[in-house]
Amino acid sequence: MKKNSKIYNIFKKGETLSLSRFIFLCLYEKNHGYYQKNRIGTDFVTAPEISQLFGECISIFIASINQKIGNIRDFCELGPGNGTLTKDLSKNLNKLIKDKLNFYLFEKSNSLKTNIKKIANDVNISQLKKLTFPPRPIFFIANEFFDALPINQFEKTSDGWFERRVCLIDDKLKLILKKNTFLKFEKNYGKNGDIDEESPFANLYLKRIFNHLKEFGGGLLIFDYGPLKKKKIDTLQSISKKKKSYFLDNLYDSDITYHVDFEKIKQQAIKSNLLFHGPITQKKFLFFNGINERFIKLSKNLQSKKQLEILNSQFIRLTDARGMGSLIKCNFITKEQIKLNFF
Ligand SMILES: C[S@@+](CC[C@H](N)C(=O)[O-])C[C@H]1O[C@@H](n2cnc3c(N)ncnc32)[C@H](O)[C@@H]1O
Repeated sequence: MKKNSKIYNIFKKGETLSLSRFIFLCLYEKNHGYYQKNRIGTDFVTAPEISQLFGECISIFIASINQKIGNIRDFCELGPGNGTLTKDLSKNLNKLIKDKLNFYLFEKSNSLKTNIKKIANDVNISQLKKLTFPPRPIFFIANEFFDALPINQFEKTSDGWFERRVCLIDDKLKLILKKNTFLKFEKNYGKNGDIDEESPFANLYLKRIFNHLKEFGGGLLIFDYGPLKKKKIDTLQSISKKKKSYFLDNLYDSDITYHVDFEKIKQQAIKSNLLFHGPITQKKFLFFNGINERFIKLSKNLQSKKQLEILNSQFIRLTDARGMGSLIKCNFITKEQIKLNFF
């Protein structure tokens, strides 16, 4: 373990760390954290990095409902990473909406923020330090954002619910169970062996965004890894040097994610008097928003067989039912009553 790191110094004092604090430091600690050192695409590839088709379909979706959700001119991307989706969206939406557009980017990683500055389309781009917005309808978009937020895990044993915490024993990182007096679970909630996962960051960010949608209008479009119905199991996963790894190994050199619980987001949305659409697969969203038509149009302009093969493989990666096409789910939240027959 790096001797000058925060994690090392905390453990040296004999303290334990909540999982969310531990994961936060692994990903974002200054000079060490995974996202402070790596660009998106180092160990895993996201949909906007695969093809412009992804941003094109989202632009078609936005244009098709824009009148009904408040005539949006303001967009906010959560966790834009390299900024590729914002770049594609701003290019397409500039053609579809005849007004100056504003893009607000909420990105934690300092090194990724530096790259985003290079987006050159004719739109206003500003970085948000905090989730505070102008008092207008905003369209929020989050691709693989919520699954990258740190989580806490709670485990049910015959003695009730315990918090899983990280500690250092004999120079090895281990998980221990600790009774947590703040736990809000009811006594009969869950069965022995169940694991409940909560992201304090997600709850906070969703609260802010939902308050905004309720007051000023707009929408939130989420694409994330997660099942249609989440079980109470450990879904933490980590990837290091393009290979699956255990999240307590390869400290600061792994991307750590988990499976999002869309039902919890739905409940939070309903509590805020918003309407929740989804989850549906990424494949279904893309097909209903013109990916076939865009594919045909783009392929007609290609010069070589090689270019067609590349476009074809990008199309398959985005929509393949054995991969991203079905593992990633899409959800849409708004306060307006709109008919979305593919959700
Ligand atoms: C898996 S990447 C996805 C990047 C991008 N959306 C894409 O599709 O290529 C997750 C992104 O969320 C950012 N992120 C994670 N936690 C964040 C937080 N609390 N605040 C802002 N950005 C965060 C990361 O730095 C990273 O850019």
